[in-house]
Amino acid sequence: MKLWGGRFTKKTNKLVENFNESLSFDHRFYKQDIRGSIAHVTMLAKQNILSSDERDRIIEGLKSIEEDIEKGNLRFDDSSEDIHSFVEAHLIERIGDAGKKLHTGRSRNDQVALDMKLYIRDGIDTFKELLYELLSEVLHIMEDNRSTYMPGFTHLQKAQPTTLAHHFGAYFEMFLRDYDRLVSTRKRMNLSPLGSGAFAGTTYELDRDYVADLLDFDTATRNSMDSVSDRDYLLELLSDLSIISMHLSRLSEEIIIWNTDEYRFVEMDDTYSTGSSIMPQKKNPDIAELIRGKTGRVYGSLISLLTAMKGLPLAYNKDMQEDKEMSFDAIDTVKSLIKLMSGMLSSMKFNHSRMEASAKGGFTNATDAADYLVKKNVAFRDAHEIVGRLVLYGIEHNKALDDFTLEEFKNISEVFDKDIYEAISLKTCVEKRNTKGAPGLEAINKEIEDSKRILESLK
Ligand code: ARG
Repeated sequence: MKLWGGRFTKKTNKLVENFNESLSFDHRFYKQDIRGSIAHVTMLAKQNILSSDERDRIIEGLKSIEEDIEKGNLRFDDSSEDIHSFVEAHLIERIGDAGKKLHTGRSRNDQVALDMKLYIRDGIDTFKELLYELLSEVLHIMEDNRSTYMPGFTHLQKAQPTTLAHHFGAYFEMFLRDYDRLVSTRKRMNLSPLGSGAFAGTTYELDRDYVADLLDFDTATRNSMDSVSDRDYLLELLSDLSIISMHLSRLSEEIIIWNTDEYRFVEMDDTYSTGSSIMPQKKNPDIAELIRGKTGRVYGSLISLLTAMKGLPLAYNKDMQEDKEMSFDAIDTVKSLIKLMSGMLSSMKFNHSRMEASAKGGFTNATDAADYLVKKNVAFRDAHEIVGRLVLYGIEHNKALDDFTLEEFKNISEVFDKDIYEAISLKTCVEKRNTKGAPGLEAINKEIEDSKRILESLK
């Protein structure tokens, strides 16, 4: 059924009908559409625009539609243009004339703005839960690995030793910011657009704040033209999701590298790996690769919507219907990315001895050797130069700094003494780094305690 047949004399072209329709994808917010309609008629009755009998019959009809959709008795066929027409048509079919009053003082423009906001708000709440689980998993790894030594990298070259707890602490921060961004997106979007009409409000005495309250919004939006044209909250969500994906993709990339035969820092569980059809020996990190790969389509959604919105004059334009499929795709994608990352992390094994052995190679204690000299009154720039020469000697003789004889140290600088060995041991290099946020045991214990408290406060 069409909601707008009156001024037309010819039937819509079939191609146009198919091109224009949105029911095939906006049916996913039927619940939100019905919830919004129930709030709308409740307010209409309170304002004496509808009788309480009409209100009750409409609400009963809407509830029976919801129930039948859920039971699979009512299918989304192609007889309606969108979910709004679908619900209204079935309401009229079920309850007759009272159903024709549902759309009093409302336009599909404020209706779709409302439905989408309700749907996105529910989506944000799910994302918060999923991120909470991921943060708990990351914190778990941190707690278990305060003294798991590993090399830290810059330029993917071994740089200084650190711990696995410290490394994962960085991801804890990223996912915590992601959580925080969602909270602030939710807060900014939580204003009800219903009652904005097509864009210029209406002459009925609607109580917009009352509707907002019924639907758990903080209040109603301030400008009706903006209300029906605003898709900022979607762009914010897509941007939040893009950043989450970017973080997941970076972690995936590390897991892929750590899982190579050359590193063997981690072993992926069989349940989270896949094999090769030709090479029997292979166990591939496909899931990490797919998380990395799917990040591209999430960015794609953000860029598509930004581009769709960029030239739109006020107020509603049909271009805005394009906001749905791309948002839904990004939402579905990122939900599975977060779930899979949590599962992959909880099933993955860390190879402590490989990590520690790797931390000992590659002169990761060179900075500490320089700092040792500085503490003996050598200027840092000179110390840097001296240790550079030590490293060169080490490379030429295939020796780590720890394996130098005292004589070899002294040949390069007389300042070295036998306390150098203690100063550059892996344990010292890590454990003495106790500035705020550093990997030393004292500092990381504090970081972990704080993180626990923060996580608890998110509950
Ligand atoms: N399906 C439309 C959308 O998603 C609903 C709003 C239609 N409004 C209109 N004036 N044609 O944007």
